[in-house]
Amino acid sequence: MPEAQRPGALADGEGAVDKGTRTLVVGPYLRTKPGNLRSRQDMGDDTANSRPASARLDEAVGLAVAIELVVVASEMTSLTALRPATYLGKGKVEEIKNLIEAQEITLVVMDCALSPVQQRNLERAWGAKVIDRTGLILEIFGRRAQTKEGSLQVEHAHLAYQKGRLVRSWTHLERQRGGFGFLGGPGETQIEADRRQIQERMSRIEKELDSVTRTRALHRAGRKRVPYPVVAFVGYTNAGKSTLFNRLTSASVLAQDMLFATLDPTARAITLPHGEKAVLSDTVGFISDLPTMLVAAFRATLEDVIAADILLHVRDVSHGETEAQAEDVHRVLHELGLDPHDSRIIEAWNKADLLLEEERARLAQRVKLRKDGAVPVLVSALTGDGLDDLLRTIEERLAVGREKYTVVVAPENGQGLAWLHSHAEVLHRETNPETGDAILTVRIMPERKELLLRRFPEARPESFDK
Ligand code: GTP
Repeated sequence: MPEAQRPGALADGEGAVDKGTRTLVVGPYLRTKPGNLRSRQDMGDDTANSRPASARLDEAVGLAVAIELVVVASEMTSLTALRPATYLGKGKVEEIKNLIEAQEITLVVMDCALSPVQQRNLERAWGAKVIDRTGLILEIFGRRAQTKEGSLQVEHAHLAYQKGRLVRSWTHLERQRGGFGFLGGPGETQIEADRRQIQERMSRIEKELDSVTRTRALHRAGRKRVPYPVVAFVGYTNAGKSTLFNRLTSASVLAQDMLFATLDPTARAITLPHGEKAVLSDTVGFISDLPTMLVAAFRATLEDVIAADILLHVRDVSHGETEAQAEDVHRVLHELGLDPHDSRIIEAWNKADLLLEEERARLAQRVKLRKDGAVPVLVSALTGDGLDDLLRTIEERLAVGREKYTVVVAPENGQGLAWLHSHAEVLHRETNPETGDAILTVRIMPERKELLLRRFPEARPESFDK
């Protein structure tokens, strides 16, 4: 199928980034005083962040490898200014051209935000396909989408990206080829036709997404009625969320040494140490500089996170950039309207097995000292170390503000029993063999306590530890 007609294919060259493609990754980073982010952003370096340049390049290479591109070479280039036409300076463009020819490279990933003009000029100069960071992230999201909702969200984000670029590219240069290949009525320019078609497709997707989102909301409401509390996993990509999720649920979620192994949330129920149940929900991996547009596109998926009772922030503490990664996660949470210091957040400091003995001891000490409610738990999803501790912490946090009661329900009071099942969390149930009474241990949200006591004035409160 010609590229322009593939669903989601971009008119101006993205799409068709097949696995096995011989790829060059270029990190063109602006040279400024360390930490001087503002000025870098002011100069147009949209992806400027607090990471050292070498870590930024490593991450970009990791992302390319994650979608099975063959990274033949990677190079960092330090810029003092951005060229409007080609982003890079003339000499650099020439030097890269030679490398591309010598190494038979057909794709160049530029770890920056390129304008459509810059992208096209570079493609012409190099005779290779060029994608920028957003293009790369869209590719990754596209590959990892497992559900219909995920695919729709990615396609929508892709189209939004494409539409924005059509506008800008048209004002700067003539179109070389028709995007979707159709012309509208007389007098309609190619750009207008393209834009209209994209808009129509976007509106159709929005409608479909609406109905998928509604179904998900119903599922969520169903889960709430169970009513098990929900623990949503968040964390930087590759922190070990899927591994931890699998370990805790023994479910078979895709876990690979790949970034973004999980795009669509998967939910499974587990039993906590004192017998309570909770639903664990594995969500998308976060990443630095996740374009805001993508966060918006994935809002529906991320609503599970927003609505969760606990957010389990899984961190790879063996990673040199663990603090910067945590900041990235906080930034995404903030964009979702969540306070990064929300008391619902528990940090799981994962990959403890990779730490040197003294480093592990140091972190274990730090964990003990943080008694501010945000106590992290040191774990290894791989060896299982610390997981009991983690489950206990989750259970304790869930219990905060929710009291347990023992309620005796007469056998003829079916309605009362039904009420308890739909309004409280039934932790335990036994029957008195003599009277036939049901004896239930339930836990209830503070706002429902009054209702419980009105229906069952004899209900007895219990302390948390049995
Ligand atoms: P995304 O889906 O990209 O967000 O990644 P994720 O956070 O779900 O990470 P995943 O569980 O896929 O793990 C990434 C890699 O880290 C895999 O190779 C895991 O085997 C490895 N890993 C996860 N937890 C541990 C751990 O405790 N110790 C060690 N040594 N490796 C781990």
